[in-house]
Amino acid sequence: MPPRLLRLLLASALGLVLAAGIAYWQVSQERAARVAIGGDTGGPAAARNINIGGPFELVSHTGETVTDAAFAGEYLLVYFGFTFCPDVCPAELATMARAVDLLEPEVAEQVRPLFITIDPERDTPEAMAEYVDLFHPRMVGLTGSTEQVSKAAREYRVFYQKVEDDDFNYYLMDHSSFVYLTGPDGTNRAVLPPRTSPQAIAEAIRQAMAQDETTS
Ligand code: NI
Repeated sequence: MPPRLLRLLLASALGLVLAAGIAYWQVSQERAARVAIGGDTGGPAAARNINIGGPFELVSHTGETVTDAAFAGEYLLVYFGFTFCPDVCPAELATMARAVDLLEPEVAEQVRPLFITIDPERDTPEAMAEYVDLFHPRMVGLTGSTEQVSKAAREYRVFYQKVEDDDFNYYLMDHSSFVYLTGPDGTNRAVLPPRTSPQAIAEAIRQAMAQDETTS
């Protein structure tokens, strides 16, 4: 066989292996997303055993030090992001706010949307106060020291990373973008992937509440 043909065959085989690898990776990603919302385990409520979320100490947008205990008894919609985010964060926070507004008033008053920054360097309590005010009157913004923020993010398995731009004054943050529904006892009830609709988030809250009523 001429060497050129052999090289061509080898290159095609390598291409096939790569394509199969990419296809397999995509399928596992989709499966991971379904598991995250409980699709493989019987609904969002089934996600409660996943060890997501936990104790934190942060600084609220009014400048007070607060821990998770401050929110005990409330259903929390928790989102990690940063105020400088050009698109994803504002879209997700608007969705959370809309979800709360879709609930009956007596249900909505048991729900607390929380926005935790992963960019405490720029997101001072003052910046957070201005920002959460754009979304919902019940929304609380949380920032803190680099250590406090990284500890809270670890509890929620949140990934984030600074992305420097050529412009030395400017950076963005890469970050995972899930909405976490936490029950009044602090356990996780659902992990809602990016672009979940406000209706689906409101439904996840109603389901968690219904389940709590039947088990209490
Ligand atoms: Ni963002």
